[in-house]
Amino acid sequence: YTPNAAGAKNLITFLNLSLFIFKLAKNKTKNIPERRMNMPLVPMKAILDTVYSHRYAAAAFNVNTASQAEALIGVHEVFRAPAIVQGAELANGFMGGCVDFAHSTPGQKRTGAANIAKAVKARADDGAVPVALHLDHGKSLESVKAAVEGGYTSVMIDGSSLPLEDNIALTREVVKYAHPRGVTVEGELGVLAGVEDHVFGAQSTYTHPLDAIRFFKATGVDCLAVSYGTMHGACKGKNVKLRREIVIAIRECMLHEGIDGVLVSHGSSTVPQYIVDEINWLGGRLTDVGGIPIEELKTSIACGIGKINVDTDIRLAVTRNLRELFEKHPWLKTDASTHGVYALLKQLPEAVDPRCFLAPVMELVMYGTASTNALRLLDDSIRRGVAEMAGTLIVSFGMVGKSAVVKPLSLEEMADHYRKQGI
Ligand code: G3H
Ligand code: 13P
Ligand code: ZN
Repeated sequence: YTPNAAGAKNLITFLNLSLFIFKLAKNKTKNIPERRMNMPLVPMKAILDTVYSHRYAAAAFNVNTASQAEALIGVHEVFRAPAIVQGAELANGFMGGCVDFAHSTPGQKRTGAANIAKAVKARADDGAVPVALHLDHGKSLESVKAAVEGGYTSVMIDGSSLPLEDNIALTREVVKYAHPRGVTVEGELGVLAGVEDHVFGAQSTYTHPLDAIRFFKATGVDCLAVSYGTMHGACKGKNVKLRREIVIAIRECMLHEGIDGVLVSHGSSTVPQYIVDEINWLGGRLTDVGGIPIEELKTSIACGIGKINVDTDIRLAVTRNLRELFEKHPWLKTDASTHGVYALLKQLPEAVDPRCFLAPVMELVMYGTASTNALRLLDDSIRRGVAEMAGTLIVSFGMVGKSAVVKPLSLEEMADHYRKQGI
C-alpha cells in the first residue's frame, strides 16, 4: 500500500460513481426531448404526437391580428405549453389588408399569411416553447399553397361540405402537397351543428365512425375534425351535451386499426357568461349566447379529443376589453388614431368579432405596429383579452408544462418521417 496506489483507487471509485450517476440521469431523462432555446416553428404533428401519451389536449387558438399572435405565444410561454396559432382563411385576408374580409382576394390572403407568419416566427424564434402555425378551415389547394408559401407549418383542408368521396379526393391531394414539405394536415368529416334526433339517420350530420376510419386510411391525414355536438360561434345553445360516444367509437377503431392520428374538436368555445354580462353592461347587446360547458370538454379529452379549436372566446374577451377601454379612457373616443374604433363599437352593439371594429387601425392588425400612445393602449387591451382566455383554457386542457415533452422537429425531419412511412 502506497499513497499513489490509494490515489489511483480513489480515482477509479470516483470514475465508477460518476459513470453510475450519468447512466442514472440518462435513464431518467430518456423520455424528455433535448431542450432548445430560440425554437423555429414546428409542424403541428410534433405537438399532436404528445397529446395521447401525456393525457392532455392541445388548444388551438385563432388570431386575427399580428399582435394577438405575439400575445398568444407569450401566454403559452408563461405556462410552458406548446402553442398552436391558427389563422383562418378570412383572417388571412384581413391580415393582408382586406377590411371587407369576407371577400378577400387570393393575393390578399397570401399577403396576410406572410404577415402573420413573420410575426409568429419573430416571436417564436425569441421564445422557449414549440410553436406551430396552422391554417384553419382552408377551402382549396390554392389557399393551402398560399399559407405554406407564407410560412405556415400546418394546414386544414375542410372538405366537410362535399360528398365523402370528393372530400377524400381533395384531402388526399392536399396531403400529397403538404407531407413532402413536412407540413401537417387536418381534415374534417361530418358537419358541425348536428341535431340530436338525427344521430343515426340518413341525414345525420355527426361523424360516422366507420367513415372516419376510411377517411384516415384513404387520405393519410394527421388529424381529423369530427362532428359530435359542438358548433361554431357564440350561439351554441344552453346546457350543451356532447355525444362523447362518437369520439370513443372512433378512437377505439383507430387503435384497433393502428391509425396514428388525432381527433379534433372544432366550435369549442365556452362563451363565459361573465364576459357576456360585461359586454352588455358596456353597451353591447348579446342575446341567446351560450358555449360548450368546460366539463363537457374535459370529458371529451378523456374520451379521445386531442386538439381543441377556440376562436369565439378570444373574440368575446377582446370585444369586452375594447368597450371597457373607451369607458376608462374617454379621451380615446376623440383621439385621431382610435376614434374610428369607438364609432364602430357604438354602431355595432351586437357584434362580437373584433374585425368589425378594427378596420381603422390596419397597421396594428397587419404588422402589430402601434405608433401612438392611444394605439398602444388599444393594443394592450387586445393582448390582455388573448391572455385571459388562452390562459384559462391552457390550464383547463392540461397543457401546463407540456412544452417539455414535445420534440422540436423541423419540417425537414418531419418530411423524412413521412417519406419513410410512405404517407
Ligand atoms: O372556425 C372558424 C373560425 O372561427 C374562423 O372564423 O372564418 O370568420 O375567420 P372566420
Ligand atoms: P368557436 O367559434 O367555438 O370558437 O370555434 C372555433 C373553431 O372551431 C375554429 O376552427
Ligand atoms: Zn372550426
